[in-house]
Amino acid sequence: MPFAHGVGGIAANTMGDNMRGSLAAPHPLYSGAEANGHIEFTGHEAAVHPNYSSNKVIGKTMSDLYERIEAAKAFIEAFGAVRPRVALILGSGLGSLADELSEAVTIPYAQIPGFPISTVHGHRSELAIGHLAGQAVAVMRGRFHFYEGYSMEQVTFPVRVLRALGCEFLFVTNAAGGLRRDWAVGDLMRINDHIFLTGMAGNHSLRGPNDERLGTRFPAMLDAYDAELGRVAHDVAQQQGTTLRDGVYFMLSGPTFETGAELRMCSAFADAVGMSTAPEVVVARHGGMRVLGVSLVTNLALPDGTPANHAEVLEAGEAAKPKFAGLLKGVLARL
Ligand code: HPA
Repeated sequence: MPFAHGVGGIAANTMGDNMRGSLAAPHPLYSGAEANGHIEFTGHEAAVHPNYSSNKVIGKTMSDLYERIEAAKAFIEAFGAVRPRVALILGSGLGSLADELSEAVTIPYAQIPGFPISTVHGHRSELAIGHLAGQAVAVMRGRFHFYEGYSMEQVTFPVRVLRALGCEFLFVTNAAGGLRRDWAVGDLMRINDHIFLTGMAGNHSLRGPNDERLGTRFPAMLDAYDAELGRVAHDVAQQQGTTLRDGVYFMLSGPTFETGAELRMCSAFADAVGMSTAPEVVVARHGGMRVLGVSLVTNLALPDGTPANHAEVLEAGEAAKPKFAGLLKGVLARL
């Protein structure tokens, strides 16, 4: 009987205290500019989580996200750039496509209110807005990863802002480990679906109060990756003589590369594995954007293969840059 008697109260109490305690503790990444010299403290992290406070705070927190989006939007609009129609998120090593924009306005993330900055080597951290292949685009040069310590809301905040700025499409790219033995390093894969394991396990980018102005509470994800954009991508790839695979992207939080057992699990359900993209795609779909996702296979992620490393990921990104850029521009020109 002591078991049945004691557990509920103790567990509830301990959890409550722990949650409050850990939410209040400053994360090293966000503890102020003086902590590491390049992460801006936004002050939002200090907000009380709605689940652990009163109804008043729930209302405040919802509008707070909306207001932060609007503030970032207003800040960016003040630069006088073109109104972007397509948002591009460029992953590891692919950022230089942003150099090809004409009439570009470039804004470092560190200046944009509410934006964190990326901490991963190989990513520049700036937003470029201009024209590419005849389209008005906003290019995120570098993205935020959950493994860096950002919350899912922070990881996906820029997508919210790009949506608010007018983007109807999201083109998202990443570096990924190929799970198929017959695939090669340097292959591109159009993402036709994803498994958002991090989200399924509780760290979901839509977790928390839902603001109906941003999207519906329970958005469908069956059509997360736009079929028509996928067809166009394959068509363009064929014209350009580029191999474009089609497959499922398995998102794990990282930052470790996978164990053999994890790779066997991933390969039972997916074709490529990586540490990004799914959170942003979910938020884009929540906001009604149409999504094209493309992975670059930077290494083969096989349980009996050689261990993956970050250097080879960057190297493969560099080598594949021209065909990756060609594909994206080809699809842009057809929108
Ligand atoms: N696993 C996870 N993420 C990755 C990989 C990998 O093998 N390659 C590039 N990103």
